[in-house]
Amino acid sequence: MSAPMTTHLGSGQDPHGAARPTPLLEACDLVQRFPLRGTGGFLRRPRLQAAVDGVSLALYPGEVVAVVGESGSGKTTLGRMMLGLLTPTEGRVLYQGQDIAGLHGEAWRRFRRDVQVVFQDTGGSLNPRHNIGHSIALPLRHNRDMDAVSAAAEVDRLLDAVGLPATHFRERLPSELSGGQRQRVGIARALASKPALIVADEPVSALDVSVRAQILRLMADLRAREGLSYLFITHDLGVVRALADRVVVMLQGRVVESGTVDAVLGAPRHDYTRQLLAATPVPDPSQPLRA
Ligand SMILES: Nc1ncnc2c1ncn2[C@@H]1O[C@H](COP(=O)(O)OP(=O)(O)OP(=O)(O)O)[C@@H](O)[C@H]1O
Ligand SMILES: [Mg+2]
Repeated sequence: MSAPMTTHLGSGQDPHGAARPTPLLEACDLVQRFPLRGTGGFLRRPRLQAAVDGVSLALYPGEVVAVVGESGSGKTTLGRMMLGLLTPTEGRVLYQGQDIAGLHGEAWRRFRRDVQVVFQDTGGSLNPRHNIGHSIALPLRHNRDMDAVSAAAEVDRLLDAVGLPATHFRERLPSELSGGQRQRVGIARALASKPALIVADEPVSALDVSVRAQILRLMADLRAREGLSYLFITHDLGVVRALADRVVVMLQGRVVESGTVDAVLGAPRHDYTRQLLAATPVPDPSQPLRA
């Protein structure tokens, strides 16, 4: 037997493999309360509604965790808190073990670079007056300090990586692309910052079925090639099966069930998860998307 390891293992790993490494991103008892519209007034405090009500979850390097739940269950609110876009009412978000509320200056910029977001209409948020090469070059210049020549080469690589041949697409304006192509540009722009994690909030739900499959395949592929992690917010259990390792089911701001995709979808314990499964058509098993 080899000698016991006494060196530092960094990232909290235990020599016996009992503990997992430090999560990349972790939500600890997150709560978000919003004032209920129409309930506040002169000298009267508005009533509050908990959109997220005590959610904890951890995402480990290289993992894909799906968050599912009905409309209004708090998925986007959870995602925005984990991205640092919304301050939690209670609880903490840890990035590589550090509370993001305590990150400033360069550490905050690094977090914002490392954790990117792709949402339903990411492509729609591209500047309509910039050609897409320019839009992708901006984060390369600002976040990765590239000079114009290296940025141009990287733009081409990223466009190719998302399946848009650079020579055809680099000079086009967003209005000259289809919705699916724009969404690919949005993904390329997110990748431009070399993120460790992408929070994807319904990234394919606005797209038709064939484009949806292409983009999911692309995301699975990028995970394998670039070692990305995803926090994948979706209504769609087909997407969960295809892409995720673990799944968290939310209902009215709380996690009602979580575990590996096989365990949760194979033997759902909560009524809500069963209903969700019953309402989902079974995808074609001959078309695995998982990388
Ligand atoms: N800025 C806000 N102010 C007040 N209430 C909000 C705000 N943002 C979200 N909410 C409320 O919080 C709850 C959760 O919303 P959220 O957008 O997180 O749900 P979701 O699970 O992402 O839903 P969907 O699947 O429809 O996108 C909803 O009741 C919503 O109305
Ligand atoms: Mg949402």
